[in-house]
Amino acid sequence: MVPTSRYSIRYVKALQVLDSRGDPTVEVHVVTEGGGFGRGIAPAGASRGHREAVEARDGGRAYGGRGVLKAVEAVNKYIAPAILGADASNFREVDRRMIQLDGTPNKSRLGANATTATSLAVVSAAASTAGQPLFEFLGGRRARTLPVPMMNVINGGVHAGNELAFQEFMVLPVGASTFSEALRVGVEVYKSLREYLKRTYGIGAVNVGDEGGFAPPMRMVREALEALVRAVEAAGYRVGSDVVLALDVAASQLYRDGSYWVDGARLGADELLELYVRLVEEFPVVSIEDPFSEEDAGYFRKLREALRGRALVIGDDLTVTNAKLVELHVAEGRVDGAIIKVNQVGTLTEAEEAIETLRKLGKKAVVSHRSGESEDTAIAHIAVAYEIGLIKCGAPARGERTSKYNELLRIEDYLSGDARYPGFRVLQL
Ligand code: PGA
Ligand code: ZN
Repeated sequence: MVPTSRYSIRYVKALQVLDSRGDPTVEVHVVTEGGGFGRGIAPAGASRGHREAVEARDGGRAYGGRGVLKAVEAVNKYIAPAILGADASNFREVDRRMIQLDGTPNKSRLGANATTATSLAVVSAAASTAGQPLFEFLGGRRARTLPVPMMNVINGGVHAGNELAFQEFMVLPVGASTFSEALRVGVEVYKSLREYLKRTYGIGAVNVGDEGGFAPPMRMVREALEALVRAVEAAGYRVGSDVVLALDVAASQLYRDGSYWVDGARLGADELLELYVRLVEEFPVVSIEDPFSEEDAGYFRKLREALRGRALVIGDDLTVTNAKLVELHVAEGRVDGAIIKVNQVGTLTEAEEAIETLRKLGKKAVVSHRSGESEDTAIAHIAVAYEIGLIKCGAPARGERTSKYNELLRIEDYLSGDARYPGFRVLQL
């Protein structure tokens, strides 16, 4: 018999809970022999890459087909027996058992929502058994770099009921010297943006989208960037030094029959590329995520060549937290970095591989939430543990977004004088 340790998993149970859009999602509880408890909740994306791991949904009438009882059953009936008794502190081995049990390239048998929630619950239970916060359990004592928040304060695309083509317009408080100061700057800009939008477009302009950013009735992407500049200035900060801007275009969503619908017009990939170059010249945009559809991967490289390092080109739907795809697209010269979302690949171990691949190749990682989120705070810990330096977790509003910001404040407080905030440095190539 294998001797049991304090880290041995003695209890695994899943249940169906709700995400921030009111859709069902998977929550998993794990308890170890030493009494450690961990919980993981799977998030859900709305603008997904074609090569993402797939979540299991029930179909049928309940919850409009969005139920996850099959994924809950996959945890309780198949995953639990496979990982009970395993060593939670060796979470990579636990993940490997799940990957093997699933046996598909995209988690389609068990469901990536089942494996993601379990993976996060196991590692949280291990940290709890060790009596450490998750970031310290994963990253050790050297992990003390808080991330620069890329705060999505104007929502468009499939995250909002407006006509803005680009999905996310973000502010990065890079001039701050601590994380808490950066968060304050972001909040002040968010509030001043609210006033600007209300004054300019009327009270209906301050309704919010899926990630807590405003969803104003704008049509032109320039209008949104202009609003950000005005808001930063009105809050008393300098655009380009205290606060810089970033975009997530999520361009696969704009792509129809070889062209892109932007600003109410049909643009070819070359015209869209020219638009990006002009926007980077006119506004302090430091990063553009998913500027082209996955089908137009070659244009990522053309854009990088045209920008010559003036802004980062980041993959999300293109790279889907998959180490092999990250390696391929970096080798082809298409990206300066990639988004890391555990549920795009289905386990923390595989997300870790994507992070390590980026690091080895000298590229940026950006840890990210999804548009459908929960109170789960694991990504705050992952950002600090792997010294990622950049996090996307939405506007500084709505509980599922502030839960991450608040956790980062707690981590900063826990680290007290040892916490570091990289600011502008993190963007340098
Ligand atoms: P999603 O969008 O969570 O809806 O996929 C987030 C993103 O594209 O970064
Ligand atoms: Zn994205």
